[in-house]
Amino acid sequence: MEGNDAGLLLFTWRGSVFRVAGGVQPPKAGSLFFCRHLAVRSGERVLEIGSGLGLAAVLAARAGARVVATDIVPQAVELIRANALVNGVRVDARLGDCYAPVEGERFDLICTNPPQMPTPPGRARDDPVAAADNGGVDGWEILDRVIHGASAHLTAGGRLVFTIFAFLGRKTAFAKLEAAGLAPSIVASETQEFPRIGYERLDHIRALDVEATLGPSVPTTVERFVVQGACGGSADR
Ligand SMILES: C[S@@+](CC[C@H](N)C(=O)[O-])C[C@H]1O[C@@H](n2cnc3c(N)ncnc32)[C@H](O)[C@@H]1O
Repeated sequence: MEGNDAGLLLFTWRGSVFRVAGGVQPPKAGSLFFCRHLAVRSGERVLEIGSGLGLAAVLAARAGARVVATDIVPQAVELIRANALVNGVRVDARLGDCYAPVEGERFDLICTNPPQMPTPPGRARDDPVAAADNGGVDGWEILDRVIHGASAHLTAGGRLVFTIFAFLGRKTAFAKLEAAGLAPSIVASETQEFPRIGYERLDHIRALDVEATLGPSVPTTVERFVVQGACGGSADR
């Protein structure tokens, strides 16, 4: 068909179907790892920050959660809405940076599979693919803000759940969570293929790998963690 010849890219998983469009990244191994270990209870209020095309958000809504899904990329927010509709669930999709779209609101579960690839200075870009990958110079740029703001957006007994590459540091993650008043634990770990973009940044990543998770040879795999920070009985109000 003339003028509309780009094809239609679909991703299907666990009985749901997702449209992939607008330069928004299709789900990767990390997305599936994240979703597999996201324990969502029916009726819970869930916030997913950086929802992409809405995979985790739609699955959480299918599990009976009341879901707010955000992204900083307008095309992603449109896709989340479309993908919720296609799958017959309600997801409240909002555009904005980190917690800005949910000011004053609290959730039982805040979750994110955030952009976390360490990005050498001068290599940041402003497009949907870069927004999905680039985590600032040390990889923690978005996560630091997610962790810092979590207590103000969690209900008492709520939890923050996120993924990290092992080279960002398990001990570092625990220290950051503890400093934010959250009790840290590892929910799951998995060995994944070393990400392609990581090879271009290998020297930069090695310089940040203070917990020595990468060996001396060129890596073919990387360890990935799902980390939880649990909020104690009384949320910081
Ligand atoms: C690694 S992708 C994950 C997408 C999806 N959740 C998944 O697991 O496949 C990270 C997502 O975070 C979004 N993002 C990047 N910076 C953000 C920010 N400051 N606030 C909200 N979302 C952001 C990106 O646009 C991208 O959709």
